[in-house]
Amino acid sequence: MLTINKLSAHVGEEVELRGWLSGKRSSGKIGFLQVRDGTGIVQAVTSRAEVSEESWSAVERVTQESTVRLRGRVNEDSRAPGGVEIHATEFGIDSLTEDYPISPKEHGVAFLMDHRHLWLRSAKQRAALAVRSEVEQAIRDYFYSNGFTLIDSPILTPAACEGTSTLFETDYFDEKAYLSQSGQLYLEPAAAAFGKVYCFGPTFRAEKSKTRRHLTEFWMVEPEVAFLEFDGLCKLAENFVCSLVERVLERCGAELEALERDTAALERVLSPFPHISYGDAIGRLVELGQDIEWGDDFGAEHETLLAADYDRPLMVSRFPASIKAFYMEPDPEDERVVLGLDILAPEGFGEIVGGSQRIHDLALLEKRVSQHKLPRQAFEWYLDVRRYGTFPHSGFGMGLERFVAWMCGAKHLRETIPYPRMLSRLYP
Ligand code: 4AD
Ligand code: MG
Repeated sequence: MLTINKLSAHVGEEVELRGWLSGKRSSGKIGFLQVRDGTGIVQAVTSRAEVSEESWSAVERVTQESTVRLRGRVNEDSRAPGGVEIHATEFGIDSLTEDYPISPKEHGVAFLMDHRHLWLRSAKQRAALAVRSEVEQAIRDYFYSNGFTLIDSPILTPAACEGTSTLFETDYFDEKAYLSQSGQLYLEPAAAAFGKVYCFGPTFRAEKSKTRRHLTEFWMVEPEVAFLEFDGLCKLAENFVCSLVERVLERCGAELEALERDTAALERVLSPFPHISYGDAIGRLVELGQDIEWGDDFGAEHETLLAADYDRPLMVSRFPASIKAFYMEPDPEDERVVLGLDILAPEGFGEIVGGSQRIHDLALLEKRVSQHKLPRQAFEWYLDVRRYGTFPHSGFGMGLERFVAWMCGAKHLRETIPYPRMLSRLYP
């Protein structure tokens, strides 16, 4: 059967469509029906004088989100969204919906989130999720065309990658297991097998605070590259981010318009990105009157302030070892800091990328595992990567929802994932 997105190639023809009613107006003589089929929305016009009594009765009875079918002629209409309109000669209801909970009036976010499974049908929600889908495909295309091998990392793991404070714990027969916070530890050995690898999947963090930038389940894409050192890592991350923004601008015009996203801000995202050190970032924040000192981690408001100086993503690097993960390589020029990189999105969308060069010296990594009080036994396999043919390597992780929120101009991550999981949200 024909779909709405293909109608413009069938002007003048008689077609049949199935879908859902998203809105209607009727004068008693003429009915205007907005029909959605998942690929688009089209207006069907019917006139009482031209259709059967049965069809007209369906036009009068049909309610929002009823399942409908119609037959009619495709007419050109330059004012309509897809450039066409249907002159319907038959209209029927397959399933009449009663009391659809989401009406065109305003609803609170908690209500909409409780009805997320239905809210997905709304125009802005569909637009944001279509952007997400495009970004996921762009990510896979980027790595595929740049010679990376996809390595699916496990979700159940015995080891903590990003600190022990945000672990979801579960019983694994007689052992303890955690839901993965990151696939990185499993990618590093694969980099020795394939050179350039990436993983892309759900990751979990038991974030106990309610913020608009944190989900407890989010998707992360992580490349890892053998013999890549810190400067190369910065270039890879910048090139990757630029290519994704370009792809969204190229292919998601209609969605960005539906979301009322100002695309001029995205068009300025060109390489090179400004790059400052953590030390300079602290200096800038103090200058801006913030109560922060060397050694403190940034909060969301600090990130927003720092990013506000620039019209494109900001790279911040060389953080104190004490605020970063155990595996980050120390800076040979200043042992207090590590070769870690964060990318902060402009316009207050926060950290989209976090990465680093990895420690490849066995003795130093062993020392870090014990300094961070990590259970040594769960990391023996990871230490093997340094025991057998160690090599410098680097990688990063990008949070898919953070990136999509930035593209869509969404203030909160919850609308960038089909079914968000947050501190107080496990339903539906
Ligand atoms: O900076 P993070 O914690 O880095 C890692 O997990 C590394 N192991 C990645 C690597 O080097 N392979 O997380 C990476 C990114 C962040 O920059 C952010 O975009 C996103 O993941 N992120 C979250 N997104 C949504 N909700 C959360 N709770 C997030 N925590 C991190
Ligand atoms: Mg980070």
